[in-house]
Amino acid sequence: MSGAQRVDWTSRPAGPLNGVVRVPGDKSVSHRAMMLGAIAEGVSHIHGFLEGEDTRATAAVMQQLGVRIDALAGGERVVHGVGLHGLRAAAGALDCGNAGTGMRLLTGLLAGQAFDSTLVGDESLSKRPMRRVTDPLAQMGARIESDGGLPPLRVHGGQRLHGIRYTLPVASAQVKSALLLAGLYAQGDTEVIEPHPTRDYTERMLAAFGWPIEFSPGRARLSGGHALRATEVRVPADFSSAAFFLVAGSIVPGAELRLPAVGLNPRRTGLLQALRLMGADIRVENEGESGGEPVGDLVVRHAPLRGIELPEALVPDMIDEFPALFVAAAAAEGATVVSGAAELRVKESDRLASMAAGLQALGVNVEERPDGATIHGGPIGSGTIDSHGDHRIAMSFAVAGLIAQGPVRIGDCANVATSFPGFMELANGCGFDLGGVAL
Ligand code: S3P
Repeated sequence: MSGAQRVDWTSRPAGPLNGVVRVPGDKSVSHRAMMLGAIAEGVSHIHGFLEGEDTRATAAVMQQLGVRIDALAGGERVVHGVGLHGLRAAAGALDCGNAGTGMRLLTGLLAGQAFDSTLVGDESLSKRPMRRVTDPLAQMGARIESDGGLPPLRVHGGQRLHGIRYTLPVASAQVKSALLLAGLYAQGDTEVIEPHPTRDYTERMLAAFGWPIEFSPGRARLSGGHALRATEVRVPADFSSAAFFLVAGSIVPGAELRLPAVGLNPRRTGLLQALRLMGADIRVENEGESGGEPVGDLVVRHAPLRGIELPEALVPDMIDEFPALFVAAAAAEGATVVSGAAELRVKESDRLASMAAGLQALGVNVEERPDGATIHGGPIGSGTIDSHGDHRIAMSFAVAGLIAQGPVRIGDCANVATSFPGFMELANGCGFDLGGVAL
């Protein structure tokens, strides 16, 4: 898994950037397709499955639970579903690697099984809060032991679950999804209400697999006791992976990049709005639909950016894009103010702290606050930063290096393989000057 070997990167000033950049499949959709395919009746085909460590870990977990999965070339997976009650106890612990999505969704899914399971993760995942899922699942009748709210999670099977109506204290698609998956096994209705709508892939995909579900932005409701029917899932390109190239294309003089067929679910595209508010030149072309999701080509051209006060309402719609936004803000004229983003402190790293420290190490003036930061645009110097083993921090500083005054060395980048295998090759293919050393 990630972190087995330490890899450092150096990103050197480069440009202009040009070409077509095909980013890999969506991580959120890939996790869900694998889980639902596994408990559906019949054989599901997944096209464009993300070949990242996070989603492969979820596939390996489903195999440990007795599901046959054929891996064909280029992100094709054939999942031989075992039906809602066909999973079998695994021989050992289930390793979710670095994936918060994997662990939280599986906790909901496993809470309704007849057997016990233990979920473990890597060093970063072992520090991430799990009470947000175990507390409401306990209200549904689940029995889950944790290490003071942290992994490993011991999920006891054989519990009778009942549906609840639950209002999420924080906007989280992972928590919503865990409850909906437990709700498949519960008696009665499970209803989740969100303080702000979050990505609705679980809801859309349950419907695509034939489970009756009612949902609208901010609310989802289903009842237990139906069946999932195998289907075909087409995974769109991941907007969160496209985000690094949207920022790179915006800040490098002379750049023009095309990112084909990117997933444009409105609950994911907050960064597009934020960058446009900053003056970015990003167009959407060839809009269409793939697997029930809106997709389109994103065409980004260099444009001078200016700082903004980020509307708080955009935060949940760009929750994974803040590292990239911070780099855009450093390259902009004036200050960018981010608030209402305390959730960033419990991602793969404390992203407010990681980005503030990294930008400060490159001479950028950043004031960090408990729920956000103010980034003052200005020259980005040469230097060494620590990614804190966080894929999105590493890729963001690879983008910063493009316009730095000299090389930017980025420590501990192996984790990029969790979400974006092949990032370096794609980046160098469009004009980055990015190199790596294994230590
Ligand atoms: C995800 C939800 C978000 C996001 C994560 C993927 C999902 O997490 O940060 O990368 O697939 O449901 P939260 O639900 O914790 O906000």
